[in-house]
Amino acid sequence: MEAASQAEITAEIREIAAQQWRTGEPQPRLDYPPYRSSTLRHPKNPLVLVDPEELERQAPCFGPQDVDALDADLTAGHPGEPIGERIIVAGRLLDGSGRPVAGQLVEIWQANAGGRYRHQRDQHPAPLDPNFTGAGRCLTGPDGSYRFLTVKPGPYPWRNHHNAWRPAHIHFSLFGTAFTQRLVTQMYFPGDPLFDLDPIFQSVVDPGARQRLIAGYDHDLTEPQYATGYRWDIVLSGSRRTWTET
Ligand SMILES: [Fe+2]
Repeated sequence: MEAASQAEITAEIREIAAQQWRTGEPQPRLDYPPYRSSTLRHPKNPLVLVDPEELERQAPCFGPQDVDALDADLTAGHPGEPIGERIIVAGRLLDGSGRPVAGQLVEIWQANAGGRYRHQRDQHPAPLDPNFTGAGRCLTGPDGSYRFLTVKPGPYPWRNHHNAWRPAHIHFSLFGTAFTQRLVTQMYFPGDPLFDLDPIFQSVVDPGARQRLIAGYDHDLTEPQYATGYRWDIVLSGSRRTWTET
């Protein structure tokens, strides 16, 4: 089948958004045709219920001894500095009442400044950076805060449709207190020209919820002669909940 054009995808996005507004359907659809592979990948059966105690015996676990402070610095660990715009990404993990969630494992992964992942499935002709792997992690502090040092990821092409490009983003995973609680989402950067065209971003129909996926530029976080700062808080529940994929 010939790949759809951007205009066709944009029309599909608008049609579904209009349907969801009409029917008051607040949640992104798991089977969302403008995001082509969601049609094949979305769960078609009810979730499998598992015994929580048995799961905790088998599931991965971690503690402060497993997470090194350097793991939050994605610019470190290589012989040289990665190419790109050095940025600080920081924020707080909060519950629905605004209380900090401390001691949580926050993991991130991202493309390099050229928009390429260090992954065998990503073979598009943008350069790999020998000084950038693109994965980091940290534990939230007593005030729920997290902080990463990295480089700003580039937008990248994908094969969803003809001339499809993802807005620049960083993937986030929040582990919870058990493996079944893990949440995954994406953080975006303000003013990205690709927002309107992206079926993943647009699958979140509520404009307020979409806005909450976009970090804010924070000059107080910016460090002189060193890095610009972006602040992004993550809310786990309630009316200002951050949208998550899982
Ligand atoms: Fe991505």
